[in-house]
Amino acid sequence: MTSPRDIAPASGRLGVLTPGLGAVASTFIAGVIAARQGLQPPIGSITQMAHIRLGSKEEDRNPRIREFVPLAELDDLVFGGWDPISPNALEAARTAGVLNDSDLSTISSELEGIVPMDAVFDQRWVSKLDGVRVKDIANKWDQAMALIDDINLFREENDCDRLVMVWCGSTEAYQEPSAVHDSVAAFEQGLKDNDDNISPSQIYAYAALQCDVPFANGAPNLTVDIPCMIELSETRGVPIAGKDFKTGQTLMKTLLAPGFKARMLGLRGWYSTNILGNRDGEVLDDPENFKSKEVSKLGVLDTILQPETYPDLYGEIDHVVRINYYPPRGDNKEGWDNIDIFGWLGYPMQIKVDFLCRDSILAAPIVLDLALFMDLAHRAGEAGVQEWLSFYLKAPQAAGEVEAEQDLFIQQTKLKNTLREWMGEEPVTHSEAG
Ligand SMILES: NC(=O)c1ccc[n+]([C@@H]2O[C@H](COP(=O)([O-])OP(=O)(O)OC[C@H]3O[C@@H](n4cnc5c(N)ncnc54)[C@H](O)[C@@H]3O)[C@@H](O)[C@H]2O)c1
Repeated sequence: MTSPRDIAPASGRLGVLTPGLGAVASTFIAGVIAARQGLQPPIGSITQMAHIRLGSKEEDRNPRIREFVPLAELDDLVFGGWDPISPNALEAARTAGVLNDSDLSTISSELEGIVPMDAVFDQRWVSKLDGVRVKDIANKWDQAMALIDDINLFREENDCDRLVMVWCGSTEAYQEPSAVHDSVAAFEQGLKDNDDNISPSQIYAYAALQCDVPFANGAPNLTVDIPCMIELSETRGVPIAGKDFKTGQTLMKTLLAPGFKARMLGLRGWYSTNILGNRDGEVLDDPENFKSKEVSKLGVLDTILQPETYPDLYGEIDHVVRINYYPPRGDNKEGWDNIDIFGWLGYPMQIKVDFLCRDSILAAPIVLDLALFMDLAHRAGEAGVQEWLSFYLKAPQAAGEVEAEQDLFIQQTKLKNTLREWMGEEPVTHSEAG
């Protein structure tokens, strides 16, 4: 047995702050409230529902993850955030239209009491939204300081022992990293100079890390995927993770592609298209915002299939991803995939997937798990990129030079083995001996 980590207890209240109180955040909060009132089980949450095998099969030790590692209890969570449009979590949930009135009515007063703070918002990054509940502060350094004040006040007013932040805000316009992102010093100067290359999500991340609050990014924005944030998270000893919640079509892709590769079946093309009618779909209707999403979605196949290692099977793939904004569908996205594979003697075959999913229903448990695991990581002394949480992310950030794993099943093994190691248990290798 390895020696267990010294992990601080999960005592007191954990504040979960979400920049963005839209469909995903309101569905997440509503689900946690429903679960703690015993109205519905937290389906889809690994922290709440999954078990973890310990030791050899014969030992028959298989506790729930939440009984194995010291996680915050659902009853100890307090919710807060920022949004330039939503007046409170109940209105956000009603606008999103994800949950039925009958599900909302039993928890409506709690939801109504969750009022977001005024946002740091700039329409240049989300052209389709017109923010009204926005901080009236022009300078980016001053915006960061105002967010730091918000965080400290929230911590105090809600008597929180610890905080975590999960970006549930809109996808920002596409950008490449630039010189202002190279170091903390350059970034801080950029804040003071109102540098155009600093987006609102980066200002939230900076404020969080300066307050020692772990930050996970659920959108494809750069946010913490830039050298200055990695440097800051390491020097302050705070975990970060990103980016883009792995739901819907990409979840399917990371389930199917490892299967083709495991059986050495070839892939010639993968055409993915979606219709989506929620506010996220509207934001992504702008080509600059869609580009952020497209880049995040396209990276998945190459990392799983390793075309350099298997040129005969995966050397020539046409991978196309489209999202079309189609209001009648609301949050109930429909994702179609046409997959052209080939087998023995090169004979072609096709697979069609039509996934009628509910985007926020798939994303909400990810927000919960990221919040709880980021808090655990912080208490376990972790800092910097938490690659073991790649399981939840579409374009996972790597902790080192080598790209992060994309195969969902390898990611799951990595997540569980990380927990085992922290608790002083042997990793499970699934070899014939174990
Ligand atoms: N639903 C999913 O399955 C899924 C999957 C992967 C990623 N995401 C990402 O998660 C994010 C949230 O998705 P959603 O469906 O809840 O979208 P949404 O449009 O319903 O909610 C986003 C909220 O963010 C707010 N916002 C925009 N800029 C902000 C800022 N600067 N500060 C604070 N708030 C800001 C908007 O006003 C809006 O209320 C999006 O970026 C989306 O791309 C969602």
